[in-house]
Amino acid sequence: MKLCMIGTGYVGLVSGVCFSDLGNNVICVDKDQAKINSLKKGKIPIYEPGLEELVLKNYKNKRLSFSTDLKDSVRKSDIIFICVGTPSRKGGSGADLSQVFNVAKEIGKSINKFKIIITKSTVPVTTGDQIEKIIQKTNKKKKFSIVSNPEFLREGEAIRDFVYPDRVVVGTNDIKSNKILKTLYSPLISKGAQYLNTSRRAAELIKYASNAFLATKITFINEMANLCEKTNINIEDISIGMGLDKRIGGRFLRAGPAYGGSCFPKDTKAIINTADKFKTKLSVIKSVIKSNDNRSNLLLSRISKLLKNRLKNKKICFLGVTFKANTDDMRDSSSLTMIPILSKKGAKVSYYDPTGHKKEFNKYKNVSFENNIKDALKKSDLIVVHTEWNDFKSINFKSYLKGRKPIIFDMRNIYSPTKMKQQGFKYFGVGR
Ligand SMILES: NC(=O)c1ccc[n+]([C@@H]2O[C@H](COP(=O)([O-])OP(=O)(O)OC[C@H]3O[C@@H](n4cnc5c(N)ncnc54)[C@H](O)[C@@H]3O)[C@@H](O)[C@H]2O)c1
Repeated sequence: MKLCMIGTGYVGLVSGVCFSDLGNNVICVDKDQAKINSLKKGKIPIYEPGLEELVLKNYKNKRLSFSTDLKDSVRKSDIIFICVGTPSRKGGSGADLSQVFNVAKEIGKSINKFKIIITKSTVPVTTGDQIEKIIQKTNKKKKFSIVSNPEFLREGEAIRDFVYPDRVVVGTNDIKSNKILKTLYSPLISKGAQYLNTSRRAAELIKYASNAFLATKITFINEMANLCEKTNINIEDISIGMGLDKRIGGRFLRAGPAYGGSCFPKDTKAIINTADKFKTKLSVIKSVIKSNDNRSNLLLSRISKLLKNRLKNKKICFLGVTFKANTDDMRDSSSLTMIPILSKKGAKVSYYDPTGHKKEFNKYKNVSFENNIKDALKKSDLIVVHTEWNDFKSINFKSYLKGRKPIIFDMRNIYSPTKMKQQGFKYFGVGR
């Protein structure tokens, strides 16, 4: 099939390359000329395990191409996926749909024959209806079908998640579009993915409801960790004990810093906005947002306590700053809340992340990136394990620290408290 992905970010690039690997001809379009130029040279703009090899392979065999020409790409394709960003509105809580609507207008001007136009971007309920109206303006004789096909991939596991999804949700009442999409996804269905055809609005809501539920699970276990700290219980026992119940499941049940990333924070806020619009209360999700917003402050006050409330000139080393491992994405990472506050309070923060220096910290004079773990740990008074990268799981602190014994605050509980204490470290985790 001939496909076109509009927006070549995490979702557009990953799904585009995976579709091409399944034998389709795919054009990945982006308005960012520099991004498209570098992709044409084989340079991948994001860190995503396995992505580079797959892009190079499919670009070489000419099933995958890159373009900034939206009009031409739409004309050449049968199925158009809208994969642009839907960030939170500036100063507001709803999703900013300007990128989606701009793309819809452009598509509307480019339709030359029947097209299936799909939102893969996460969009609030009724966005499909609005896109349909926009495109209808320039296409009175309906030669298109608007479908919702939300994407559930996780950064860091994106290729695996795309190729082996739990489910493929296709929101459309149009029998022809549904049939075509079922064929497009048939290689994944034959590997075990459930194919679910719903109404367009239901598909839009499934995505938000799923993200809000996962954010709730994380927040729930983070609050349990607070209780465990007060009652001398190990949160790991609680996570395992709860997770073994198949009705609950163990995933997204590990205590840590506030949830962050490009999806949960904006999507939980956007679903509240949708509920407000439809005069419905989502009080559970509202409390989740509040609790999560509090989490970074709570962990900051623990840092402060560990340093006896004297942060000035204290050297704090952050191991990992991305919102989770195996991605370079910094969007809404809790380190973006914590590090600036520590720096403003006079602490000197060094950080190391396997995905390199982060421009987000450039404006803070007391914050520096180090090229390796050893340099980042140098002279530290406190080490904060912020992101669960494999690179940190077997650090030989003894040899790196050469007899020094800084405090270690492991926000991901990746080390054994017993072993750390045996080595003489003042070691603290979360919820244990
Ligand atoms: N990142 C994830 O893990 C993930 C997972 C599932 C769903 N989603 C959803 O998918 C959508 C995209 O997310 P992302 O993380 O891939 O975003 P992103 O910011 O990484 O990529 C969006 C891309 O769209 C491009 N773009 C914007 N306007 C354009 C236009 N008019 N023409 C062509 N290109 C244009 C931008 O230049 C950018 O490269 C969002 O709605 C997001 O919520 C993201």
